[in-house]
Amino acid sequence: MRILLLCHSFNSLSQRLFVLLGELGHELSVEFDVNDGVTLEAVELFQPDLVVAPFLKRAIPEAVWSRYTCLVVHPGIVGDRGPSALDWAILNGERRWGVTVLQANAEMDGGDIWATHEFDMRDASKASLYRNEVTDAAASAVVEAIEKIQSGSFRPTPLDPARARGIKRPLVTQQDRAIDWQRDDTAMVLKKIRSADGFPGLRDEIAGREVFLYDASPAPGWSGEPGLLLARSGGAVCRATVDGAVWIGHLKDKGSVHPFKLPATQVLAGPAGELPQVSTSAEFGCGVIRYEEKDQVGYLHFPFYNGAMSTRQCESLRRAFLAARGRDTRVIVLMGGPDFWSNGMHLNVIEAASSAADESWRNINAIDDLAREIIQTTSHLTVSALRGNAGAGGVFLARAADRVIARQGVILNPHYKDMGNLYGSEYWTYLLPRCAGQEQADRIARARLPMGVREGQSRGLVDEWFDQDARQFERTIVEQAGALADAPDFAERLQEKARRRRRDEAEKPLSAYRDEELARMKLNFYGFDPSYHVARYNFVYKVPKSRTPLTIARHRRSDSETALRNVS
Ligand code: COA
Repeated sequence: MRILLLCHSFNSLSQRLFVLLGELGHELSVEFDVNDGVTLEAVELFQPDLVVAPFLKRAIPEAVWSRYTCLVVHPGIVGDRGPSALDWAILNGERRWGVTVLQANAEMDGGDIWATHEFDMRDASKASLYRNEVTDAAASAVVEAIEKIQSGSFRPTPLDPARARGIKRPLVTQQDRAIDWQRDDTAMVLKKIRSADGFPGLRDEIAGREVFLYDASPAPGWSGEPGLLLARSGGAVCRATVDGAVWIGHLKDKGSVHPFKLPATQVLAGPAGELPQVSTSAEFGCGVIRYEEKDQVGYLHFPFYNGAMSTRQCESLRRAFLAARGRDTRVIVLMGGPDFWSNGMHLNVIEAASSAADESWRNINAIDDLAREIIQTTSHLTVSALRGNAGAGGVFLARAADRVIARQGVILNPHYKDMGNLYGSEYWTYLLPRCAGQEQADRIARARLPMGVREGQSRGLVDEWFDQDARQFERTIVEQAGALADAPDFAERLQEKARRRRRDEAEKPLSAYRDEELARMKLNFYGFDPSYHVARYNFVYKVPKSRTPLTIARHRRSDSETALRNVS
């Protein structure tokens, strides 16, 4: 089918559907919902058989839904309507939630139902649920709806509000989820913060400043006067509740000179500086690097918020990796986080630095230092286990390991081009040709589209992928790593790895790859062309795109552009 994805932005769910429906043989194009005129123009140009709206912030114009079948993906169970579906599901403590695919009509979220898929809720942020359970359910429900449309015989079910479990709910306001630090227990505080994370954040006051809270996790063992800040660790601050405390990893102060998400200690520089610095090890979340060991395998978790890796985080991770390498184990698994494996340099921290160019330089060098240690490891076999998406330098960092395994549904964005034509580093000029061959490497470097694990495997970015849910994949990671550690030819594999590294080094030293890449990056950071700085500013400040990039708006390309892109 010719399917137009109509979306507010090309977010993770839209990318997932773009990849999945493309794999299923559909012809896809994308249009950003900028205004009615643009949307109408898009359908005129593309003449789709179907419009799918995975992520919209306004209603589809009547002139479109009255002429084309339009499916809207609503992140709620049957009957649920309104703009804050997941927020309410978290606040109300729903045990099961779902995604419903509806046909657009005059009533927002009230159209006939084509498919619905439910899932168990998890104690996690709205963004985490969206990127995992919601995206998986939406992918299945959209595919089911399309199959039903293609069958020609299925009639969608009209919504019967009297029989549906879901109801119409208003937008969640800041008052609805305001924290009362003198009354709310830890569970309630977490629930409220998570219901607003990643957007819009929960508005609160810390040290007399209005800030938005994100990236919260429990702080077992901590307690104090409710509402008081108790300690800091990494970028997070610990704040007491009536029955314990929570870690808060990120804050946004809209009134400050850097009105975007930053590590909490950076936003609260003064008051946080006076707090005792502690090292957290056992707690989850808040970017805490965690190491665990089982049966000759070391697992290194680095659940950095949004997959962004600042200079400091890369340095800490490198130290943790070296410590893992010092252990008497055989395999090290780089686990990333449950939502993202890595999205490369921390663009927000860079944007907030006194010299963005200098901080970019420090950050890329810190990632390179980490990548080099992984590549040079000859004492262990290394595995990158992609449970969540990876983007830009994060994809190439994963490839630094001997083996890359991924869960089906993971989306890779192995390109830096959208960040102002950044050249990129992380030894990609060594790693890509080594794993994919020079021709594939060139193709990957030229492309700027998201890819699924199937394509990732065919292009040498992924070695193996598993069509499993998150929990099953966790077990697979352990099995795979265990099998590698127990392999009868483990010693030979290690020797072969060391031999290959020596051979590669003799042919061209790693330092030469790095120098060449960094020479290009220096131009990106310090040269005359400001594209990278402009692109980073737009990304961090979330400047909306005024038109859909031609890479995905295929209906807007001229024939020559299409031909050119097909070649690459
Ligand atoms: N630094 C800081 N924040 C980042 C980030 C980075 N490298 N990558 C992603 N984020 C943040 C986004 O700002 C967004 O923040 P929010 O919680 O306020 O919404 C969140 O992570 C999710 O990102 P989003 O772009 O909405 O996710 P996506 O799945 O739609 O797209 C990418 C994924 C990787 C394509 C996109 O995030 C991206 O281009 N990131 C930048 C990658 C990059 O250029 N890194 C630097 C070069 S190494």
